[in-house]
Amino acid sequence: MRKILVTSALPYANGPIHIGHLVEYIQTDIWVRAQKLRGNRCLYICADDTHGTAIMIRAAAENRAPEALIADVREQHLTDFEAMDIRFDNYGSTNSPQNHQMCLEIWAALREAGLVHEKTVTQLYDTQVGTFLADRFVRGTCPKCGKTDQYGDSCECGATYSPVDLIQPVSTLSGTTPELRDAKHLFVEIERLRPFLTEWTQTGNHLQPEIANYLAGHFLGEPLRDWDISRPAPYFGFEIPDSPGNYWYVWFDAPIGYIGSTLDFCQKTGENFDSWWKSPETEIHHFIGKDITYFHTLFWPAMLKTAGFQLPTKVHIHGFLTVDGEKMSKSKGTFIKAATYAKHLDAAYLRYYYASKLTGRVDDLDLNFTDMVQKVNADLVGNLVNLASRSAKFAHPLGLSAEYPEDGGLFEFGKNQADAIAEAYENGDFARVCRLVMAIGDKANKFIEESAPWTLKKDPEKQSRLRDICTIALNLYRQMVIYLSPILPRLAQQTAELLDESAENWTFQSVQTPLLGTKVNEFKHLMQRMDTKKMEAMIEETAAENGTNEETPCEWNDSSEPLENEPLAEECTIDDFGKIDLRVARIVMAEHVPEAKKLLHLTLSLGGEKTLNVFAGIKAAYNPEDLVGRLVICVANLKPRQMKFGLSEGMICAAGAGGKEIFLLSPDDGAKPGFRVH
Ligand code: 2FM
Ligand code: ZN
Repeated sequence: MRKILVTSALPYANGPIHIGHLVEYIQTDIWVRAQKLRGNRCLYICADDTHGTAIMIRAAAENRAPEALIADVREQHLTDFEAMDIRFDNYGSTNSPQNHQMCLEIWAALREAGLVHEKTVTQLYDTQVGTFLADRFVRGTCPKCGKTDQYGDSCECGATYSPVDLIQPVSTLSGTTPELRDAKHLFVEIERLRPFLTEWTQTGNHLQPEIANYLAGHFLGEPLRDWDISRPAPYFGFEIPDSPGNYWYVWFDAPIGYIGSTLDFCQKTGENFDSWWKSPETEIHHFIGKDITYFHTLFWPAMLKTAGFQLPTKVHIHGFLTVDGEKMSKSKGTFIKAATYAKHLDAAYLRYYYASKLTGRVDDLDLNFTDMVQKVNADLVGNLVNLASRSAKFAHPLGLSAEYPEDGGLFEFGKNQADAIAEAYENGDFARVCRLVMAIGDKANKFIEESAPWTLKKDPEKQSRLRDICTIALNLYRQMVIYLSPILPRLAQQTAELLDESAENWTFQSVQTPLLGTKVNEFKHLMQRMDTKKMEAMIEETAAENGTNEETPCEWNDSSEPLENEPLAEECTIDDFGKIDLRVARIVMAEHVPEAKKLLHLTLSLGGEKTLNVFAGIKAAYNPEDLVGRLVICVANLKPRQMKFGLSEGMICAAGAGGKEIFLLSPDDGAKPGFRVH
């Protein structure tokens, strides 16, 4: 019996699980269940990844402690996983005492090995929010190709760079231009482990060949850059014991979360921790997406090696999910949350569809809904469940035959697939598992059609033959379900109930011996056809959720203060409103009015020759030179009024409390001076 510890990447505790995440969790869950079915001791470990700037910022925006936020998200994640039949042996948190303990241990080892150095780092700092900006909170123009609106650390063109090199950087937290500030950071000199990492990545089959080649070609041929492992306060994480005011970067304590969650498991169950992470007898398998390859194939083995933990036996890397060949999209309704999926559709459909497309390679996986409906209905309903629904109701009053009848080698055929199926599971080639199992079903269905049990039902003389046919059909069905039970655990459960067994007792061996002489319980519906309408409803609901703008890192949490300070005015009629002619206008001239403390003198153009002379009380908030050229909204039919400084012919619209807090209204791109505002 092998002893295997398996992990999936820890999801961030700042958002729900979606169908992109599920490619990984479903895949890992299937692999783990297959190991268990083969009689191996296999532990599936995961946890929430709770630290970092994003979570800190979101909690602050929601006016609550990060601990409260991560507690809520944890509940949501656990519900999502359960709905998709993903079953962990332990689901921990990186913000746990166990993880803290493991971080301290690994940190001490890195220090001891002399791998940690302090250096000054110049980083972008958002003065409005009061925090240094993590790479993904900065956007700007790519310094290599000039493309606008790119991430702080990488561009669509493939270039990677430091956010400090971005042209016109903007903080996504506040929309302001960040400034450069210095801070002390701690670095791990992983270059010193390059010989070890070269050996580990290039030999021993720890990685898929394309990944090993990628690492050799991109990183291992030259000195590895020091790894910036600390972040200055404010930061939600663990404070570094020998560097007060600095915190471990989330990517330090996240993978350690695999170990911390195992420690948590061992403390709960009384198991020996060292037997999991410090014993060469135990295999360690990580499942991750290709975007986090570097962390798991270079930093992580380097940390484990230095601290004397077991190294991963294998890192299984998968590609991204695309939907109809494109990235998941909120507006198209394809950024589907696990909860939304589970509300409309059976978890089994997605589990099977993903399984039917997973090959153990790094390729992206495309979800095509038409294909999914077709595949699920043909394979699961038309082939698999059909076997049971065409035989179980006849078998219910009769039970199974006491001896296995002659079936022309069908059971033997199913039995002989065991090794190939086990190997395909081991290799993550679940597509092959599906094909091998469906081949059993093709033969079994042909047998049923030829035997036509429904024609025998009414003839008292043919009951024994009817029982034999059903015994064959149900045993072939049972073989298929056992083989597929890692993919379809719920169907396995229902099938075991139908056949008066316990699915918990099933192993790969169970397919070798037919079930005989036992009762067949009443047939209940096992699985519905996948309904296109339900799928459309799910997509629609997802698109509607987008109306709430989920793209922002924070939920909206607008204060009631502005409305309290200035309550709504008395009701007006549409006619009252119609009297006010609001227009789009361009500011073509803006200047100070030397004698007036608050006013700027503006000339607004409504297009062509038509201009308006306006005095606006916005001096504290705007410089005249910043205004020229921009579009605003103005009241264009206001009765002209003679002021001390000249004739005022209109007003421009602005919101805010006054003083510096004045915000001019502008139309969206495309509006032209002179357009009326309705
Ligand atoms: O990329 C992510 O979603 C990270 N939260 C994964 C962490 S995996 C591990 F290292 F903890
Ligand atoms: Zn670029």
